[in-house]
Amino acid sequence: MAKIEIPNFPELTDDTFNLFRRLIYQEMGINMRDSKKILVANRLRKRIVALKLGSYEEYYRLLTRSESAEEELGHFFDSISTNETYFYRGDNQFSALEKVILPELFKRRRRLHIWSAGSSSGEEPYTIYMVTAEAARSLHWSGEIAIVATDINQEVIASARQGEYGNRALRDLPQRYIDTYFKNLDGGRYRIKEDVKRHVLFNVHNLLKDEPPGKGFDVIFCRNVLIYFDRPTQRKLIDGKFAPALAADGYLFIGNSESLLGESKRFKYAQIFKSPIYRPVDARREENV
Ligand SMILES: C[S@@+](CC[C@H](N)C(=O)[O-])C[C@H]1O[C@@H](n2cnc3c(N)ncnc32)[C@H](O)[C@@H]1O
Repeated sequence: MAKIEIPNFPELTDDTFNLFRRLIYQEMGINMRDSKKILVANRLRKRIVALKLGSYEEYYRLLTRSESAEEELGHFFDSISTNETYFYRGDNQFSALEKVILPELFKRRRRLHIWSAGSSSGEEPYTIYMVTAEAARSLHWSGEIAIVATDINQEVIASARQGEYGNRALRDLPQRYIDTYFKNLDGGRYRIKEDVKRHVLFNVHNLLKDEPPGKGFDVIFCRNVLIYFDRPTQRKLIDGKFAPALAADGYLFIGNSESLLGESKRFKYAQIFKSPIYRPVDARREENV
C-alpha cells in the first residue's frame, strides 16, 4: 500500500504498533500480523491528521486515557476495518440460496428472518433481499422478508442506509436486478428503492462484544469477516454467537475462502453447490436429500 506523505509526520514505532495491535485484538477481535504495520500506520495517520494530533502515541493516549476515549473508539474502528464488498459477491452461494434453501424455507415459514453479520456498506444484505424477493415471486410465496444487517463500522452503516452505489459495486449484479430494485440517478450512480430499504434494518454492532441482534434467524450470513479473526475468536463467534442465534433448521453462510472444518462442534457442512454453507449438527434436510 502506498504511504501517504505528510512532511515530518513521526513513524509508527514497533512498540506503539504493538499497543494498537493489542487494542484492535481486544476490541474488535481482529488479528493484525507484523506485515500489517504499514497498513495500520496509513489508516491511523489519516484520523490523527484529521484530529490535528502530532503522533501515534498521542492518539493512543486519546483512545485509551481520555474523556472522549469511548466516542473515539468508534472512529478507530472505522479507520481500521476493511470493508471491501460488492453486490452478488459469491454467486454460487446466491444460487444455493435461490435454488435450494429458499424453496425449502418457503414451505415452512410465513416470515423469513435473516442476519447479515459484517454487512459493510449494504451490498450483501440488499442482494439477499433481491434474490429472496425474486424467488418468492416465482414460487408464489407471499410471506414477509426481514433482514437485519450489522457492522462495527459506523460510516459503512450510514452509507448502507443511504443506499447509493456506483458501477463498481454493481459490476457483478445481473442487469434485471438493477432495473427492478434501483433508481438510476444518472452519472453512473444508482439508489436502492425505498420499498427495498424497508426490509433491511441496519445497525452498528460489534460481533465480539455485543449480543446477536435477535434469535431464531433462518439464515445467517457472515462472509469474509472470519478471515480477520484468529482461530479461538472464530470458534467463540461461531459456537457462542451464531449457533444460539440460528434456528434449529437454519443455515450459516461463510465466505468462499473460509472454512469451519474443525472449528465448530455445533455446525456441519451442508453440501449445497459446493458452497461454504453450514447447518446445526442436528438439523435435518427435509426436502431434498
Ligand atoms: C470484507 S467486509 C465483508 C463484507 C460482506 N460480508 C461481504 O462478504 O462482501 C468485512 C466487514 O466486517 C466488519 N467487521 C470487522 N470486525 C468486526 C466486528 N468485530 N464486528 C462487526 N463487524 C466487523 C468490517 O467493518 C467489514 O465491513
